Amino acid sequence: MIDNNLINFKVMGDERGSLIPFEEGKNVPFDIKRVFYIYGTQKDISRGQHSHYRSKQLLIAINGSCKVTLDNGKKRETYTLNKPNVGLFQNALIWGEMHDFSQDCILMVFSDSYYRDSDYIRDYDDFLEIVNYGDR
Ligand code: TYD
Repeated sequence: MIDNNLINFKVMGDERGSLIPFEEGKNVPFDIKRVFYIYGTQKDISRGQHSHYRSKQLLIAINGSCKVTLDNGKKRETYTLNKPNVGLFQNALIWGEMHDFSQDCILMVFSDSYYRDSDYIRDYDDFLEIVNYGDR
C-alpha cells in the first residue's frame, strides 16, 4: 500500500438510521481546517490531478461511488470509495486523481489546511521531480 490508509469509521445507528461522527485528532488523523464536497461530477470526468506540498486530506464518498488513484511517484494504486463509513487518507506529496464518479456521488473531503493555491503541485513532471529529488 502507498503512504495512505483506508479508515473504517464506526457507524452509530439504531432503528431510526445511521450516524457517523468525525472528530479531529480522534478518528480523523489531523486537525480539520477545511471541509468541501464534490458532487454532480459528469461521467468520464477526472478531477484532482494534483498533489499538495503540505496538506493532508481524508476523502469519503458519503453517497454513491468514485475511484481515487493515489501515486507516490513510484507506485500507483486505485481505490474504490463506495461506503459512507470508509475514508481514504491522502498524505502530503501524494498525487491524487478522482474518477469514475457515479451520478449520485458526493465525495466529502477533510483537509488540515485552508485553501492555498501555492500548496498545489499541478504538473505531474514537477511532482515527480519534487518527490524523487526534492524541491530544487
Ligand atoms: P479544483 O482544485 O479544480 O478541484 P479538483 O481538485 O476537485 O479538480 O477546484 C475547483 C475550484 O474551486 C477552483 O476554482 C478552486 C476552488 N476551490 C476553493 O476555492 N476552495 C477549495 O477548498 C477547493 C478545494 C477548491
